Amino acid sequence: MSTGPVDATTTPAWQRLTALAEGFTPDLRSALADEEWVRRSTLQAGDLYVDLSKNLVDPDVWKALRALAAEVGLEERRDAMFRGEHINITEDRAVLHTALRLPADASLVVDGQDVVADVHAVLERVYAFADKVRSGEWTGHTGQRIRTVVNIGIGGSDLGPVMAYEALAPYRQDGLECRFISNIDPTDAATTLAGLDPATTLFIVSSKTFGTLETLTNARLCKAWLLEGLGADESAVTRHFVAVSTALDKVAAFGIDPANAFGFWDWVGGRYSVDSAIGTSLAVAVGPERFTELLAGMHAMDEHFRTADLEHNVPALMGLLNVWYTDFLGAQTHAVLPYSQLLHRFPAYLQQLTMESNGKGVRWDGTPVTSDTGEVFWGEPGTNGQHAFYQLIHQGTRVIPADFIAFANPAYALKDGDTDVHELFLANFLAQTQALALGKTADEVRAEGTAEEIVPARVFSGNRPTTSIIAPDLTPSVLGQLIALYEHITFTQGVVWGIDSFDQWGVELGKQLALRISPAIAGDETVAAQQDASTRSLIAYYHQHRR
Ligand code: F6P
Repeated sequence: MSTGPVDATTTPAWQRLTALAEGFTPDLRSALADEEWVRRSTLQAGDLYVDLSKNLVDPDVWKALRALAAEVGLEERRDAMFRGEHINITEDRAVLHTALRLPADASLVVDGQDVVADVHAVLERVYAFADKVRSGEWTGHTGQRIRTVVNIGIGGSDLGPVMAYEALAPYRQDGLECRFISNIDPTDAATTLAGLDPATTLFIVSSKTFGTLETLTNARLCKAWLLEGLGADESAVTRHFVAVSTALDKVAAFGIDPANAFGFWDWVGGRYSVDSAIGTSLAVAVGPERFTELLAGMHAMDEHFRTADLEHNVPALMGLLNVWYTDFLGAQTHAVLPYSQLLHRFPAYLQQLTMESNGKGVRWDGTPVTSDTGEVFWGEPGTNGQHAFYQLIHQGTRVIPADFIAFANPAYALKDGDTDVHELFLANFLAQTQALALGKTADEVRAEGTAEEIVPARVFSGNRPTTSIIAPDLTPSVLGQLIALYEHITFTQGVVWGIDSFDQWGVELGKQLALRISPAIAGDETVAAQQDASTRSLIAYYHQHRR
């Protein structure tokens, strides 16, 4: 993989898309009156039914987007990823999160090593540990069973496990709770530990590098809290701390028994690691069987992405659509709106996945990109968002493509009198995408008897793009499919833009500066004097006000 990326903007397909965008006048009212358009725009990927018909595209745009995929070599790069080639160029690493969910009887030899055997060896250890905690066989220092598992991690070592723990709430074991500490704001540790009994609490220190300031600081805070609470010495740590990391030497140096450490590999990016041992807290909460179903769902989506032709390849098409919106229709953000309270952390999870992957201005050979890249991903569950920010999506001045996600069956079926509340919920899911697509004309507003001076404020332009994704139930498998879907959407966009979606150098500078500034906050005037004027004045404010 030493050749440079194709500059997408120089391809014939890009020129074609530029021309198509210039005269593009979307008409979703006509499109949605056309049964054939909707039929052709609706695809199945695993258990996900994906309706792309309410997007601002037409057959010519689709054709040009598929040509773009061919001209930038999307399928070749996808295959290189699945083979384990070092497509993470700046870190010279393979990108093999897909190997984490290969079935045990598969084989994938990378750099002379059968990674599938390695993956399943760790999975078995994670599952054995999870079973012991769930059954009560694993006891704390005082012999009591574990009631609370606290995952200490940040970024990919937190967001995936939290998101999935919340999403799979109906599958959790009663009497066994997981909590999560991520922020170095001491409030996080203080409030998360409040009310817990050290004798029944077990910590999982999750850090790919085992060098992350937040995680190691929080792990030390938790260790001190544990030992003080138990009135015990360091020997108690073994029964209350396990670790997940690629740096097992650092785990041992921290004082955690290597027998209680679960490894993974540098070819798993942090934001792609929920299905590695980083998901240990989740495996404890929902059990090995459900965790295996999650992996199987991810694998099913991998297979779809790897084998489906471009016309039916949902992640590839959704990634190409995002390029169309970002680079040709001027979209700057992308909303993800789950009509599922259980997915309330899914948008936050996707923010790291998409923005840490594609928020870059140079390509993987170091040359500057020649088009806009990564959109801002954001979102909240419906219907809450409807009463907060949907106003801007309906009537604002910006194009905001939005993914709506829903499930035919509720996790909790409740009735309000005779009304099935889930049906009311789904009616909102359908109504919002319909309103965004079809809008409401001035004549329709007038026909409701609206006073003329208010008519403009009550008009909806329509032609606001959405994708609807619906599945039967939010099972572990379906959650896995959704995660892998967005991983591959992100990959597709990265390939078009020619960027390395698997490094994250942009997070480093702030980390370095925090360490450099830290002595100034502690009172070192020499270091304070070296700062810029704004930072100096903020440090001075701190010293004046800190009690
Ligand atoms: O600072 C960004 C980052 O490196 C993420 O990519 C990663 O998920 C997170 O920090 C946590 O890193 P680690 O798992 O090594 O503690």
